[in-house]
Amino acid sequence: MTAPPENSAPTRVLITGAAGQLGRELCRTAPDHMQVQALDRAALDILEPAAILDALKQHQPHLIINAAAYTAVDQAESEPEKAFAINAKGPENLALAASRHGVRLIHLSTDFVFDGKAGSPYAPKAETHPINLYGMSKRAGEQAVERLAPQNSLILRTSWLYSAHGSNFVKTMLRLMKEGRSLRVIADQVGTPCWALGLAEALWKLADLRASGLLHWGDAGVASWYDFAVAIMEEAQTLGLLDQSPIITPVTSADYQTAARRPSYSVLDRSRAWALVGTPPLHWRAALRLMLQELA
Ligand SMILES: NC(=O)c1ccc[n+]([C@@H]2O[C@H](COP(=O)([O-])OP(=O)(O)OC[C@H]3O[C@@H](n4cnc5c(N)ncnc54)[C@H](OP(=O)(O)O)[C@@H]3O)[C@@H](O)[C@H]2O)c1
Repeated sequence: MTAPPENSAPTRVLITGAAGQLGRELCRTAPDHMQVQALDRAALDILEPAAILDALKQHQPHLIINAAAYTAVDQAESEPEKAFAINAKGPENLALAASRHGVRLIHLSTDFVFDGKAGSPYAPKAETHPINLYGMSKRAGEQAVERLAPQNSLILRTSWLYSAHGSNFVKTMLRLMKEGRSLRVIADQVGTPCWALGLAEALWKLADLRASGLLHWGDAGVASWYDFAVAIMEEAQTLGLLDQSPIITPVTSADYQTAARRPSYSVLDRSRAWALVGTPPLHWRAALRLMLQELA
């Protein structure tokens, strides 16, 4: 981990959405020279500009990391106002306050800003074209940050996030597998799973480097949701987390309808962020094994 020069004052960091998957991992991995104020939704609602100003006055942060978001992709289709409030207006409030008070902002976004029609990994500057409400709301949040804090912000997109806490694909699959269910899992959507703990460690390095602009982060490799499910079963069995061997059947997106459309190819080009962070990226399957070890 990059360390600041000796005797330098700690960096004061305010984390929003601190009770979410990423928020928790940021708190868990914060290096000693980062003085963290972890604010969950009850402590700071990013929809309240006055509360944001109070938090800036009280904690005097050098950096805000916005880990708050509305992440219910299918539900967003039926409550777009809520998704846009949290994913677009919230970041706008933070970017405005941050730029007025000279505070740096790191904002998280998603692979779902792309339509999935590409045949090679999406570069950070690739044209966006979200195909669901969640992706549209996240893109609007990116645009607000780019507009209001163009110099002093980093937008980092990630994908298929999971951790030992919160609800995510890994924990849902594991629960269904333990119930002995046969599973049908989509095999024609390809992306990259990302362990939230690895993302948190990368974010601390990028914070030290004062990285700005747009970057993509994920673990190494690519997978379909089906590949991911099979790996979850095999790794969980190896670790003694799972006795059952459920049948996992690959299906197409057409066979498995969801409220929100999802990109068929959402692999992000993570090379620039990997180069900045400097350590070789972990393959997603190795990261999955480490996360499952936490549950064992
Ligand atoms: N999860 C994924 O697969 C995925 C994939 C790509 C990108 N991302 C992005 O990565 C980031 C972190 O995602 P995550 O998986 O850690 O999300 P998460 O687990 O859903 O956590 C989001 C947190 O934000 C909080 N929150 C919601 N509305 C808020 C508000 N108005 N003010 C303050 N806090 C609020 C939530 O609190 P409540 O629980 O009380 O609502 C929750 O604790 C997000 O920007 C997300 O869009 C996630």
